[in-house]
Amino acid sequence: MSASKKRDSWGSRLGIIMAVAGSAIGLGNFLRFPAKAASNGGGAFLIPYFVALLLLGIPLMWIEWTLGRFGGGFEHGTAPGIFHSLWRKNRFIKYFGIIGIFGPLIIFIYYTYIESWTLAYSFFALFGKYSALADQASMQSFLRAFQGIEKNQYFQSIGWAYLFFLVTFTVNIWVIYYGIRGGIERLCKWAMPVLFICGIALMIRVFTLGAPDPARPQWNVINGLGFLWNPDFSALKSAKVWLEAAGQIFFTLSVGIGVILTYASYLSKGNDVVLSGLTASSTNEFTEVILGGSIIIPAAFIFFGPADIKSIAQSGVFNLGFVTMPLILNRLPLDALFGFIWFFLLFLAGITSAVSLAQPAVAFLEDEFDIKRGKAVLIFGITTFILCQPVIFFLKNGVVDELDFWGGTFFLVLFAAIETILFAWVFGMEKAWDEIHKGADMRVPRIYKFIIKYVTPLFLFVILGVWLWQEWLSVIFMKAVAPQNHIYIIATRIGLFSIFIILAILVKIAWRKKKQKTGL
Ligand code: ALA
Repeated sequence: MSASKKRDSWGSRLGIIMAVAGSAIGLGNFLRFPAKAASNGGGAFLIPYFVALLLLGIPLMWIEWTLGRFGGGFEHGTAPGIFHSLWRKNRFIKYFGIIGIFGPLIIFIYYTYIESWTLAYSFFALFGKYSALADQASMQSFLRAFQGIEKNQYFQSIGWAYLFFLVTFTVNIWVIYYGIRGGIERLCKWAMPVLFICGIALMIRVFTLGAPDPARPQWNVINGLGFLWNPDFSALKSAKVWLEAAGQIFFTLSVGIGVILTYASYLSKGNDVVLSGLTASSTNEFTEVILGGSIIIPAAFIFFGPADIKSIAQSGVFNLGFVTMPLILNRLPLDALFGFIWFFLLFLAGITSAVSLAQPAVAFLEDEFDIKRGKAVLIFGITTFILCQPVIFFLKNGVVDELDFWGGTFFLVLFAAIETILFAWVFGMEKAWDEIHKGADMRVPRIYKFIIKYVTPLFLFVILGVWLWQEWLSVIFMKAVAPQNHIYIIATRIGLFSIFIILAILVKIAWRKKKQKTGL
């Protein structure tokens, strides 16, 4: 970056905490978490979940905040530059950093489309478009027709979905255009309090439901909470439950993606990262365990009873959010209002995460190519708009699942392993410990020196190892994919590979230019 250009920065400490919490709090908190807990041992799920939080989530938060602030000091806001600043002697390490741009870019492509459904459904709720639907089958048909997967009396084309996508995409790009302080921080400072108010309103609504069916007094909120939280300790014997818990921690805290690195790069040297990182994580955990755990599953239990709740909990995140929840809210007084609150809550959770996913790619163009923000956002906007099209039109062929697996699952763990090794072993734990505590308002407990150096990387390698051992053959050979969709999955993989290569070429060009400029 040229000396005349100044990097953007956060306006206040509250602003960055809200922005990181906004990035973390997303659809995962309200849909993915309750579904995972209900199908993986209920209350017992909280044991591997909190173990993963303490040994992976919190250490990675601190690592990413610290690495981000460190890289920002060299005017690098993304992993290629940050990794290079950490290990200058290694010519290749910057290429590993590409994952920190690739991952969020890929997630952004499908996340924005799902975010647009929440905006659409907010309007549908308000205007009673689905208010007459009273069973799972018709609500599912409504969703499928909206997504353009089938044509029926509800929708004849994908037109409405596409319109809401255009609006949502434009709003996202508009926020990013206004930058860190003027766009993202400003959005999160009002969106997060509104999100909490919506979440608390829905929780109170569920807690005051009582037992709406007098013939079935046992279908009540206490038993609903009991269904979710009564522990089944036998679940802890399954490796899958531990992996699911670790995966949820990654997803919910947005660690291992690259977005926290970028957000933290806009901090200045003396800004605390210890307390801020902890505050953002705690805010996310409160929202996930308390609010996320008190809305959809207890409400579904009250209305559908103990026999159906298991299959509902396992029916997938989209089904829970866009089929089960509107059906429940339809049966309550003020259904339009509560339906709107539910989907608007999801929209706010979605947009505050989506803008964080866009920022690494934009920061890469700004920092490494000296491109002005407006132009960088334009390049990002055009590229991602084109990349969103297969997601929209080939949804039914499994494109989203494929993108989510690589961008939103596999590479997260790999990236987290790389950054932990770099931080604790290459940079060195003593230097790393000093770096974490620069400007810190509190000390990290000393045990974390040991955890970050040994336990976190070991845990990550175990996760990767178990995954490779159990699943890689079936993933690579698409064993769980319907044969007619193989071609779409192969095309998606070719696309992903091409994006990775293009990013690698861009990194090469950027560094060559820098070399020519500095003459080094
Ligand atoms: N952390 C975001 C979520 O929970 C991605 O949805």
